Amino acid sequence: MSLVNRQLLLRTRPEGLVRQENFELREQPAPALADGQALVRVLYLSMDPTNRVWMSDVPQYMPPVAIGEVMRSLGLGRVVASKSSRYAVGDLVQGLVGWQDYAVLDDARAKDWVKLPPKPPVALPTLLGACGFSGITAYYGLTEIAPVQSGETLVVSAAAGSVGSIAGQIGKLRGARVVGIAGGPDKCRHLIEDLGFDAAVDYKADHWKQALAEATPDGVHVNFENVGGPVMRAVLSRMVNGGRVALCGLIANYASGGKPADDYSVIIVKRLTVRGFLAFDYQDQQRAVQELVGWVLSGKIKAGETVAHGLENAPLVLNRLFDGSHTGKLVLKVADDH
Ligand SMILES: NC(=O)c1ccc[n+]([C@@H]2O[C@H](COP(=O)([O-])OP(=O)(O)OC[C@H]3O[C@@H](n4cnc5c(N)ncnc54)[C@H](OP(=O)(O)O)[C@@H]3O)[C@@H](O)[C@H]2O)c1
Repeated sequence: MSLVNRQLLLRTRPEGLVRQENFELREQPAPALADGQALVRVLYLSMDPTNRVWMSDVPQYMPPVAIGEVMRSLGLGRVVASKSSRYAVGDLVQGLVGWQDYAVLDDARAKDWVKLPPKPPVALPTLLGACGFSGITAYYGLTEIAPVQSGETLVVSAAAGSVGSIAGQIGKLRGARVVGIAGGPDKCRHLIEDLGFDAAVDYKADHWKQALAEATPDGVHVNFENVGGPVMRAVLSRMVNGGRVALCGLIANYASGGKPADDYSVIIVKRLTVRGFLAFDYQDQQRAVQELVGWVLSGKIKAGETVAHGLENAPLVLNRLFDGSHTGKLVLKVADDH
């Protein structure tokens, strides 16, 4: 029986939020394999803010997705056919699978893929969230980029999201007072009651800057920054002299085309250290993954995911990262794992 491969190709570059018409859904037979290749059935796609950046015509740490190209995306899947010497049918792999049902894994590009245990100790969506790239990002941000010390105050923005929820919980494990910033009272309650944050600030509420000041009476020693814009400016204004910023992301700018404010004087006045980083740069990701899996299995860290369904829905599901209608890691389920 021939396999049908549905693919979502970038048709036009979105302005603002993504529209379904920005993508073309194409159906064609799954690719035939050459020697040294394996066919991967995509099971889950990772919905990442950076996907929105890749749709823009702005070269970043990776080139933009070209018009007519399958949308680039991290995901995981099972090998269902193989002419590879490295990958056998049944292997579970993670890599840039793209918005499609089937991806081809090439032995020559094996370094771009991670072979996962065939029966992982945590659920598959968790391998894209707390025990995957989000967790790795939070881990290195708070251990290498801006290591937070016991007794310090850590502020995390987009704190109920995938990276932020893990960053805040790592901060608690390291003995920090942790303040999360998130949109809406439900998310703020979740941070305190479920994830053990010390305080939470709803940046969509009136007087939220006052609430931030009250939640950080000793100032802010470390800022794990995911958002940018007014949220970041408010946090910087609360930092102690010599404070450190792990600049992880600036999601407030990704869909709006907005530019960060150009008044950086607070960085001088407060003698701040601001370090941007990309989790890709850390080659030794296994160290982080092992520790994260241990924390999740022992209950020291709670992993949470929002699972959406249907490959064809990927463009609109991605918008949930920008309207905040998810908690934890947002993943898209493409197929059952038989
Ligand atoms: N440097 C790296 O290597 C690396 C790796 C992965 C991710 N990142 C970055 O980390 C950040 C979080 O990524 P994620 O995958 O964990 O996504 P996420 O936090 O699960 O989802 C994004 C969240 O951002 C918040 N948000 C969206 N627009 C906002 C705005 N204008 N102002 C304030 N908050 C806004 C929303 O939460 P609310 O409901 O609270 O508004 C939303 O839930 C992103 O900036 C991403 O680019 C960086």
